[in-house]
Amino acid sequence: MRSVTCTAPVNIAVIKYWGKRDEKLILPLNDSISFTLSQDQMCATTAVSISPTFTEDKFWLNGKEESLENPRVQNCLKEVRRRASKRKFEGSDEDFLSWHVHICSANNFPTAAGLASSAAGYACLVFALGQVYGVEGDLSSVARQGSGSACRSIYGGLVRWHKGELEDGTDSVARPIASADHFPDLRVIICVANAGRKKVGSTEGMKRTVQTSRLMQHRVKESVLLRLDAIMEAIKEKDWSSFCDLTMADSNEMHAVCQDTFPPCVYMNDTSHSVSSLVHQYNDIKESQGSFSQKVCYTFDAGPNACLFVPGVVIDEFMTLLLRAFPPSASQNMNDYVRGHQTQTMPVSQAYLSLLDDECQAGQLKFIVHTKVGEGPRVLDDSATLLDAETGMPKVTNDSA
Ligand code: PMV
Repeated sequence: MRSVTCTAPVNIAVIKYWGKRDEKLILPLNDSISFTLSQDQMCATTAVSISPTFTEDKFWLNGKEESLENPRVQNCLKEVRRRASKRKFEGSDEDFLSWHVHICSANNFPTAAGLASSAAGYACLVFALGQVYGVEGDLSSVARQGSGSACRSIYGGLVRWHKGELEDGTDSVARPIASADHFPDLRVIICVANAGRKKVGSTEGMKRTVQTSRLMQHRVKESVLLRLDAIMEAIKEKDWSSFCDLTMADSNEMHAVCQDTFPPCVYMNDTSHSVSSLVHQYNDIKESQGSFSQKVCYTFDAGPNACLFVPGVVIDEFMTLLLRAFPPSASQNMNDYVRGHQTQTMPVSQAYLSLLDDECQAGQLKFIVHTKVGEGPRVLDDSATLLDAETGMPKVTNDSA
């Protein structure tokens, strides 16, 4: 038996991927750029075993056996095996391409809650398959065939997914563009307004947008191209203030395009808008003080949860304010409400306190995750495996958990 267990991170786009030019190959209409997040708070874990004794391919997700019929999982599996078959093998190694595979995956955060779980999940699957079959080289174009945004989780730091020009999609790949500490001590705050499944999935939403939104044509032909150039320049110059403005503008444009879709795809809710308005007001104060490097920015995926990027120098101040604006419900304690890194409560000046209005109520946010920017997928040591080394069956299932 050959086995490996890997983890892969979530990524959050600052220039969004929304809309495909090829549904089957998952080729996007525009380039996108993302931050890969630390795996300490959120990651997918996947164990892959192959053995001549397995009688069929099997797949478990979060402790439950699932069908391996899913065409996206099949495409990833086929492509990794195809690449493996092209390698030169020594002796009996060649046999293992015909062995069946057992795959066991788990996320340590809510699946399909707009928390980029599919990106981490597919990146992890493809990375682990690549390890088990000894495939070398770039795997982002394989992960892309699982879930578009997954291709960016193959690398750490700031990553750009190039849409590519070729019809077969071979040049639609992700590449790292800056290291995880490019903007030093950056904090990532995820405000979970709803941890349930989203109403319109991204595949359906994107399709509808491409078919019906005129604003989308303007985005693809003009505005996103200008923004991509501008944000690359901001990254190169380490111009945090411009980076923030461009990130927020792109999120707003994605959600405007979703609203312009017919029937509309509505992902942000009142809580999302309250978080976004708090960030703008906070930034107004920072700008009036000339403290441009202390600005905060938000971005929203296909869900109501805000993802905020906050410079480490102001994290205590900003979190104090955020927790005043969005306190936990009466039944929740602070340790359960804020997960991940801890912050210190600070005295905040009247200027900031006046930002808090009546709209902010306890319990509007379900919980908050405080994490950082991080590195790409990792291989774990054998002791951490999810599949039993003898039988190749999951160590924990929903029945035994
Ligand atoms: O990879 P998908 O189909 O889950 O697409 C997700 C797209 C967004 O998260 C909304 C934006 C992005 O670029 O990640």
